[in-house]
Parts: sequence; C-alpha cells; structure tokens
Amino acid sequence: MSEALILETKGLAMAFGGLKVFSGLDFAMRPGERHAVIGPNGAGKSTFVGLLTGLLQPTAGTVWLNGQDITRATPAQRVAAGLARTFQINTLFPSLCPLEALVLALCQRDHVAGLSLSPVVRRGPQLDEAQDVLALFGLSDFATLPTRELAYGQQRVLEVALAYALRPTLLLLDEPAAGLTTAQGHALFEHLTTLSQGTSVLFIEHDMGLVFRYADRVSVLASGSLIAQGTPAEIRAHEGVRSAYLGH
Ligand SMILES: Nc1ncnc2c1ncn2[C@@H]1O[C@H](COP(=O)(O)OP(=O)(O)OP(=O)(O)O)[C@@H](O)[C@H]1O
Ligand SMILES: [Mg+2]
Repeated sequence: MSEALILETKGLAMAFGGLKVFSGLDFAMRPGERHAVIGPNGAGKSTFVGLLTGLLQPTAGTVWLNGQDITRATPAQRVAAGLARTFQINTLFPSLCPLEALVLALCQRDHVAGLSLSPVVRRGPQLDEAQDVLALFGLSDFATLPTRELAYGQQRVLEVALAYALRPTLLLLDEPAAGLTTAQGHALFEHLTTLSQGTSVLFIEHDMGLVFRYADRVSVLASGSLIAQGTPAEIRAHEGVRSAYLGH
C-alpha cells in the first residue's frame, strides 16, 4: 500500500452467486482528486461503491483508505475512518428543514446528543457550522423550509451537503446528478469544486459532459475490469474506451 494514495484496491473480486462482476480489480486514487468511474450499465460501478462503503463484502482482495486496511471494516467504522456517501434524504425525516437535518448530522459526527430536537438553537457550534455548509452549497435561502417542499434538485444538493458535513477525506457519490436537468447537474458539480482540498471525491456518473468537465481523473470499468485510467483528455482519446463505451 502506497502512503500517497487516499484509496487503493488490490485484487478486488466480487461475484453474486455464479455471476462474476469483476476479478482482480486494482484501483488507485490520489488525495485531492475528483475522480470519476464510468462504464456501461451493469459494469459493476455500484457494486464497486458497495464494496468501498462496506455494504458488500468482496470475495477476494483488499481495500485501503488513507493507508488503513478497511476490507473487513463495518460501514460505521469506514465513516469514522473518513469515508462518507450521500444520504437518501427523501427517506429521511421529510418534515425536517435542511438546517435541522444538518445540525443533526453534525451532532452525530461530534457525538453530542442531537436527536432531541428541542431546541436546536442550543447546539451553538453545530448550528454555526450547519449555516456555513448551507451557504457553501447555495441552500441558505431554503434553510428553514421542510425538506419535502424543496425542489428535487435542491434535495439532491442537500444530500451531498449532509455527507460533506461529516468532513470526510473521501466523499463517495453514486450518480449524484441522476434525475437532474443538465443545468441542475452542473450546478451541483460546481459546488463540488469549492470544497476544501482535504476532501477527495469519487463519483459515478453517466453524463459525459459532467465527467469530462469536473473530473481530474477518470477510470473506465467494462467487462469486469478497469480498461483505462487517465485524465479526461486521455480517456476521450483512448481507442479502447471509445469502442467499448463512448460508442464512437
Ligand atoms: N445484489 C445483487 N445480486 C445479484 N446480482 C447483482 C446484485 N447487484 C448487482 N448485481 C449484478 O451485478 C452486475 C453489476 O451491477 P451494478 O449495479 O454494480 O452495475 P452498474 O455499473 O452500477 O450499472 P448501472 O450503470 O446500471 O448503475 C449486474 O450484472 C447486476 O445485475
Ligand atoms: Mg449503478
């Protein structure tokens, strides 16, 4: 394991019964990168995310986060080690407002009692920080609206804001712009460019406009293996990728 990497996998294999999704996957990501994983439907992108978050267990191989072997760590241990993924907030307290949802997430991060909501204003430091995060993601004007009344695009941005509030060293986003218009997708990714350098972002995305604009590096998963890794320009020019995936 190289110390200079934020995330590394070696020989990662995954099968569902007789279906081998991939075998021997070697992946590396440097700190500070915004790294996209692309590939056709069914290539194994979400399976890869599941192995990183600990929702799935690999059939073989090792995963390191910040130099720490997390292959057998529970999802909660991985969060403590610096990994965060988006919450599906539609299923989470739809009557809470973004400010309350963020204060709760921050209280949980700081191990202070936050689940009693009365009154949220007493959580001084968390309240200030929640307001900073809302401002960073352009959500200040909607801070006190019930989350269910936010536009769909704003809800997706809030999901990312909640994950970012945990101050992860690695933020994992599986199709964060799914269901958004092109403009909303770009707005969401613009926010990711303003995050602190200490946050690396690994995202799965089908919209190549977003991938080529916002990724520093791109990995291409196809037919059970990583067929290419490089800058957006390198990936665009890669013959194998063009024929296997980009379709031209
Ligand atoms: N829990 C599961 N049980 C059985 N097979 C599964 C399971 N999850 C995924 N698969 C299969 O594994 C393969 C990879 O699926 P995965 O969802 O990781 O692909 P993906 O690259 O995320 O696709 P998409 O672009 O459609 O989101 C597919 O053939 C899928 O049917
Ligand atoms: Mg998927």
